[in-house]
Amino acid sequence: MRFQAPRGTFDVLPDQQPYWRHLIGRLHHLAALYGFQQIDVPVFEEVELFARSIGEATDIVEKEMYIVGGKEGDSFALRPEFTAGTVRAYIEHGMHVWPQPVRLYSIGPAFRRERPQKGRYRQFHQFNAEIIGEQDPLADLEVMSLAWDLYEDLGFKGLSFQLNSTGDPKCKPVYVKALVAYYQDHLGEVCDDCRRRIQVNPLRVLDCKRDQCQPVIAQAPRITDYLCDECAEHFAALRQMLDDLGRPYTLNHRLVRGLDYYTRTVFEVWAEEGLGAQNAVCGGGRYDGLAELLGGPPTPGVGFAAGLERIILTMQDQGIAVPPLPSPAVFVAHAGADGRRASVGLLTELRRAGIPAVSAYGDRSLKAQMRQASRAAVTYTLILGDEELASDSVTVRDMNTGTQERVPRRELVQRLKSSLK
Ligand code: HAM
Repeated sequence: MRFQAPRGTFDVLPDQQPYWRHLIGRLHHLAALYGFQQIDVPVFEEVELFARSIGEATDIVEKEMYIVGGKEGDSFALRPEFTAGTVRAYIEHGMHVWPQPVRLYSIGPAFRRERPQKGRYRQFHQFNAEIIGEQDPLADLEVMSLAWDLYEDLGFKGLSFQLNSTGDPKCKPVYVKALVAYYQDHLGEVCDDCRRRIQVNPLRVLDCKRDQCQPVIAQAPRITDYLCDECAEHFAALRQMLDDLGRPYTLNHRLVRGLDYYTRTVFEVWAEEGLGAQNAVCGGGRYDGLAELLGGPPTPGVGFAAGLERIILTMQDQGIAVPPLPSPAVFVAHAGADGRRASVGLLTELRRAGIPAVSAYGDRSLKAQMRQASRAAVTYTLILGDEELASDSVTVRDMNTGTQERVPRRELVQRLKSSLK
């Protein structure tokens, strides 16, 4: 029997790690620049938390959650996203008494049982950022700017910001009613899925990708024509600030997002090439009703999440280089039983001095060890044999020039340290 990584998951092999290390480093740096504090929430939470937050009639809750059973008969879901858990933590730890707003970010895996394809996995990673406790459209601008800076910092080209407002509990239902009424007149023209969606989760008809539904969507009423005064004002203020900053965006009337907690602002960033159908590198928006829905005090919030796999795929597609990870600087080769014994102490000393070092195992010939050293791409190979032990020295081979010299043992570490600097 041969085991394989489960469908929709993959191993991140050492050659891919430089991308992850670089990206995660930049994420921590940017989050700090924007005044966000890190929070880690559990990988699993009560099923009901996600059902309530994301919505019973969404694809995520209906079809995509991984449910794990507890011994006591309780059941949990692997987190499909971070917003629900973060707002749960905000309420649970009484963060409403902290200085507001609270800016929180997380980096970690999330799980959705989706049909895997390029850029879409069952285990994926998100950078998630939330500003909780603030309704000023400036907070919306801040999270959008953070996303913007992230892609700029990484050197992305050809991204587009998609923006819409989905109203609030006052105006959204009026719009939904108008949308449903419009679809009643066009049921014969749309796909089976849309005929179902218009009953259970009407806004989702707007992001149907089927050709037959496109003319119906194009003529559908637009939510921005139904916004109440407060929502219209909020949206206008945000757009004004984006214009003032010279940050271009596309007003996308069809952008509704697949999670029910959104109110007012919703946005996505799309990569124009490389990812194919899964082109959203991040998505987010405002969720002013969520804390209350989860039993907390009424608290506005806004945030976004970026998919790290999609960012890395786009980086690779756009040929964005990342710094290599340091490899061992030194290889310790040894000859004879005494040399081998002495190599253990030398390795320990090198590592204590902060010099990354590896050595050969077993009793390979010196020639075989030298081949190993050159494959390990080290800068120096140190040779410990009978002659070196007798003269209390070490032979140091510079692997770039091929030159060798005998260095007294007591000077070795200091000399290596300064030449490796
Ligand atoms: P989302 O749009 O469901 O939003 O996910 C955000 C991002 O996660 C997507 O744009 C995509 O880059 C990545 N992503 C989602 N599903 C997958 C998948 N199966 N494979 C690979 N990448 C994926 C949320 O999760 C919201 N919680 C965002 C948010 C935070 N809204 C407010 N605050």
